[in-house]
Amino acid sequence: MLNINITLQNNIFSALFVGQNLLTLKEVNSTNDFLKNLLSNSKPLPEGTVIMAETQFAGRGQQQNKWHSEPGKNLTFSILLNPSFLPLEEQFDLTRAISLGVTDALEPLLGEQLKIKWPNDIYYDDKKLGGMLIENLIQGNHIKSAIIGIGLNINQEKFPDDAGNATSLKQILQKDYDLRRLLADICSHIESWYLNLLAGKKETVRIAYLDRLYAMNEPRLFKAEGEVFEGVIKSVRNNGLLVVNTNNHEREFSLKEIEFIKK
Ligand code: BTN
Repeated sequence: MLNINITLQNNIFSALFVGQNLLTLKEVNSTNDFLKNLLSNSKPLPEGTVIMAETQFAGRGQQQNKWHSEPGKNLTFSILLNPSFLPLEEQFDLTRAISLGVTDALEPLLGEQLKIKWPNDIYYDDKKLGGMLIENLIQGNHIKSAIIGIGLNINQEKFPDDAGNATSLKQILQKDYDLRRLLADICSHIESWYLNLLAGKKETVRIAYLDRLYAMNEPRLFKAEGEVFEGVIKSVRNNGLLVVNTNNHEREFSLKEIEFIKK
């Protein structure tokens, strides 16, 4: 009886498969790289395997950026999913589902100011709380496996000057948070959204993503092709392109083609 109680109390991972196989590393270069190596060197890994690092010393971000995280303070982890049901041209739906899972888990703490900044940054007001780096292994016209790396600033109090507009849960709420508990919550919400995709509920996922989108329908400054202009985000195409209305006409941009200019 005692054993059963202890087991139940300790099992904070309530998702069916995301996080059930969890490997926590004291130190690693990058959880994405570690998971990628594990995939190529060992026997098949269960879908939903999570690699979490206490210290990540060569974290990678979007567009060849580095991802810095103070040792022991934040969440840095990678999830293995096998969305082979997802055609390549719809791979952005995976980005949507993961972003929604992360924000659903944090929403009870942060409320409506929590947003997804296109394509997949996690924002609180105008500050960046986290981001993700999704690396797909393609087979034919489908994604065989996806390595979903997520970095979230949780208990870090200070950021270097060159960290731009970073923030953390601690900076926002003045409290420390249990990393494993948050991870468990995030895994279970990611699983729910992923299962929506698997069940073919793409429209539900797409609508929910737009609903959470940072700066949606608000006039903002952007820069594209060396030119700064005012525009309004109107939508995101199925393939992930951002739709911005400027001078009464719609333009579409990929991540490399447009940047937000700070207010
Ligand atoms: C970004 O916003 O630029 C994406 C940041 C992604 C960082 C995470 S931390 C865990 C995983 N391992 C990495 O090397 N990067 C991702």
